[in-house]
Amino acid sequence: MQQQLMESFVANFGEGGEIYTFFAPGRVNLIGEHTDYNGGHVFPCALTIGTYGIVRKRKDRKLRFYSQNFDKFGVMETSLDDLVYRKEENWINYPKAVIWAFKEHGYEVTEGFDFACVGTIPNGSGLSSSASLEVLTSKILIDLYGFQEVDMVKAALYSQYAENKFVGVNCGIMDQFAIAMGKKDHAIYLDTATLEYQYAPVELDGAKIVIMNTNKKRGLGESKYNERRQECETALAEIQKVKDIKALGELTEEEFEAIKEEIKDPIRVRRAKHAVYENQRTVKAVEALKNHDLTLFGQLMNESHISLRDDYEVTGKELDALVEAAWKQEGVVGARMTGAGFGGRAVSIVKADQIDAFVKNVGKEYEEKIGYQADFYVVEIGSGPVCFAK
Ligand code: GLA
Repeated sequence: MQQQLMESFVANFGEGGEIYTFFAPGRVNLIGEHTDYNGGHVFPCALTIGTYGIVRKRKDRKLRFYSQNFDKFGVMETSLDDLVYRKEENWINYPKAVIWAFKEHGYEVTEGFDFACVGTIPNGSGLSSSASLEVLTSKILIDLYGFQEVDMVKAALYSQYAENKFVGVNCGIMDQFAIAMGKKDHAIYLDTATLEYQYAPVELDGAKIVIMNTNKKRGLGESKYNERRQECETALAEIQKVKDIKALGELTEEEFEAIKEEIKDPIRVRRAKHAVYENQRTVKAVEALKNHDLTLFGQLMNESHISLRDDYEVTGKELDALVEAAWKQEGVVGARMTGAGFGGRAVSIVKADQIDAFVKNVGKEYEEKIGYQADFYVVEIGSGPVCFAK
């Protein structure tokens, strides 16, 4: 992978100078979905798959980009004097966004670079290829331009800022945080209201994390994502008229039930209910994992999917087909959609010796129902970004 990337780097940008290789992981969220912009908890982990980038500083202000995943665009060139969003520039808006976000926070890059990358996470499919590229760029800026005061929590925040303010997707902090702060074999229990976090060992007692890809691209997802966010904000404002809270994540299930009639629209009641219950489920799930109660952890994953399907309405027929097929299989601890939803991926925990049968049966049922194939990957939990070779 890296060898091939180095060859494309040299082919596109020539040899010589100081060339560095970086890696940033992708992430999967085990539970706590659509809670991160509601001041709730999330429980994601970084993966050993992610984005590799090879980079060399330049003496002028040019920025040149090449991605093996977007070979059709060839080398795209821009400059530090043109840090504005341009739709036609496609994927390079993400690294541009991060350079811009660093500048906005007082860390200005004054010399450009040549950059070639390749992602081992397919884009647009729910394992956060965009956040991976953002955090990768942050790590490059910190290491190559000497912005050592920017620690990895700040790098996550600047990357989120880049996505919110430059790309225009109103995402929460989960993806960037999970990627920037990843730790091998651990998930991150993050309180998104305070950014306090703990690492929890993921001990699955002979089971593995299996990602299921619907192969349905998100399409309308981004506008729907912003719509859900807006619905939660409106529900919160209605509750705030009678109760002094800052976020839906502050409420217990009982408190929510007692106050929910303040929300004047039945759809918004369901959206807010998901935000509150999903947060509480996440707290319970982390406790269950600590107590080695994998059965309860799995049940909570399943309940999370049901809530995302029925109350939050972000699953869609493809994710439901995968997850509902998964639930029926032997050796399945739990299964749910992961990430924003509207297509993309689901995550399941499956006993290792049952994985082959699982893939075969779920794959068959999915294809019969949906008309095309799903993909399955067994993934490992990895660490945060690194610069690992000169
Ligand atoms: C996307 C966003 C995250 C989070 C999830 C849903 O991945 O980028 O911030 O909101 O959706 O949990």
